[in-house]
Amino acid sequence: MNEHASTTSVSPNLPSPTPNPQPLLTVTDLHKHYRIGGQDLHVLHGVDLNVDRGEWVAVMGASGSGKSTLLHLVGGLDRPDLGSVRFNGKDIFKLPGGEIDRYRNRQVGFVFQSYHLLPELTALQNVLIGAMIRSSIPGWPIRRAKARKHAIELLERVGLADRMKHRPSKLSGGERQRVAIARALVNEPDVLLADEPTGNLDSETGQQIMQLIAELHQQGQTVVMVTHDHDIAAVADRSLWLREGSLTDEPAA
Ligand SMILES: Nc1ncnc2c1ncn2[C@@H]1O[C@H](COP(=O)(O)OP(=O)(O)OP(=O)(O)O)[C@@H](O)[C@H]1O
Ligand SMILES: [Mg+2]
Repeated sequence: MNEHASTTSVSPNLPSPTPNPQPLLTVTDLHKHYRIGGQDLHVLHGVDLNVDRGEWVAVMGASGSGKSTLLHLVGGLDRPDLGSVRFNGKDIFKLPGGEIDRYRNRQVGFVFQSYHLLPELTALQNVLIGAMIRSSIPGWPIRRAKARKHAIELLERVGLADRMKHRPSKLSGGERQRVAIARALVNEPDVLLADEPTGNLDSETGQQIMQLIAELHQQGQTVVMVTHDHDIAAVADRSLWLREGSLTDEPAA
């Protein structure tokens, strides 16, 4: 037996045997302003946020408070004026050339309020396109069959087994959002960023979408979700409010 294994004394030079796990996402002092018509609109001024792997965080706040702006920055769709977004400890805005595209395409899955599906493509093609963007052009013919199988499985999982060949215009709002969720999941992202995924849906359809997100979360999916709906936010592990440009865990008085 290794004599060191039985010793109870811990050298101060050794790393702690149970280190605190690093958050999956760490947002620090994020600032963003827009300049329009000669006027500065300072939307985010010092947002801090930690999201652990497997956590489900809801972000609430008044219309225009900057929730979408924040989600876009976290997803690497836009750049901040100041501050950092760290994914697994690495600042996504300081990654070497092209790596931020990989982050956007592989680590993050985006669900938008207005679905953003391509109207000329079927449900299945809309999901497949996410996998296609991830793949290299020469690699796609080899990956295609596997990606197609995965896209079909995802559409089955979101309850659209009999809607694969439908174009978005022939789908209901809830069905479109299901396609968008399947597309967001096609590259098995580490984090699902959902911007008011139920915002355009009636309450019953919204409940079904929430049920789907809750199931994904139970299976380990990390979720950051923007919502206006208190009942929906209550299902998440944690709710935060964006107010006057920063995030707080204090609900409005
Ligand atoms: N590209 C842009 N250029 C200029 N101003 C912008 C831009 N994007 C957003 N804004 C402004 O920034 C503010 C925050 O917008 P954002 O879309 O992040 O708000 P939000 O909290 O998501 O609102 P909602 O709940 O209505 O979706 C708004 O006043 C908006 O008009
Ligand atoms: Mg918004």
